Amino acid sequence: MSTLLVIQAHPHIENSLSLTVGKQFVDTYKETHPNDQVIIRDLYAKGVPPLNDVTMEAWRKQKFDEPMTEEEKDLLKRHEEWLDEFISADKYVFINPMYNHFLPAEMKQYLDLTAVAHKTFKYTSNGPVGLLTGKKAIHIQAAGSEYHKSGKWGTVKFLIKKAFGIKSKESSALMDLGDMYLTNMLKFYGITDVEKLFVEGADAHRDQRQKILDNALAEAKSMAKVF
Ligand SMILES: Cc1cc2nc3c(=O)[nH]c(=O)nc-3n(C[C@H](O)[C@H](O)[C@H](O)COP(=O)(O)O)c2cc1C
Repeated sequence: MSTLLVIQAHPHIENSLSLTVGKQFVDTYKETHPNDQVIIRDLYAKGVPPLNDVTMEAWRKQKFDEPMTEEEKDLLKRHEEWLDEFISADKYVFINPMYNHFLPAEMKQYLDLTAVAHKTFKYTSNGPVGLLTGKKAIHIQAAGSEYHKSGKWGTVKFLIKKAFGIKSKESSALMDLGDMYLTNMLKFYGITDVEKLFVEGADAHRDQRQKILDNALAEAKSMAKVF
């Protein structure tokens, strides 16, 4: 039995493309992997344990073995619970909308929470080593414009145009900093098998919204079956 952890960073609004496609993925996964455990971690529901002044002070006290306040103890306990849940999972589904070429702040906060030395990675004399090997992930993201449609060749064209100062009306994968960041953090943790499902262009081509959604739903179904 495997555990699938669904990490969802989306404000609770109607008609979300990323949530609709994410739900399709999870529903199909449940149908096709009936013995697996599925945990939904909704980052907007309870609030991700923060890295703030209380956390920093609690870590300092922990390091120097000083007594902590109840608030500090409670916050560190929440950090540990969320981190244990992340480490224990076998597979991950990250779901989010693109906000300003990046991930919603809650997803960044989640990645801050999970980047813990000796838990998800360690530093060695040969550089950092990820500790979460043998796991896999999928990133499901909706964006109003198109970043990945034209593939690697699109990125090359984008770079050439940039080098010659030619304005490009197409976006490029290089401008999807959120996916790049998430993929790199997962690699840093040792998770190198990261699939992608981009639901793109529904704001740029409003008349094609339903078609974009239908295609992504079909893709979600087929990817979930073999995930
Ligand atoms: C605050 C905000 C920032 C956004 N930034 C971008 C952006 O940088 N690039 C883009 O293509 N779309 C951007 N969008 C559009 C959303 O990514 C798009 O509408 C997407 O479908 C939202 O996901 P959802 O349908 O799951 O809610 C932004 C939307 C909002 C509300």
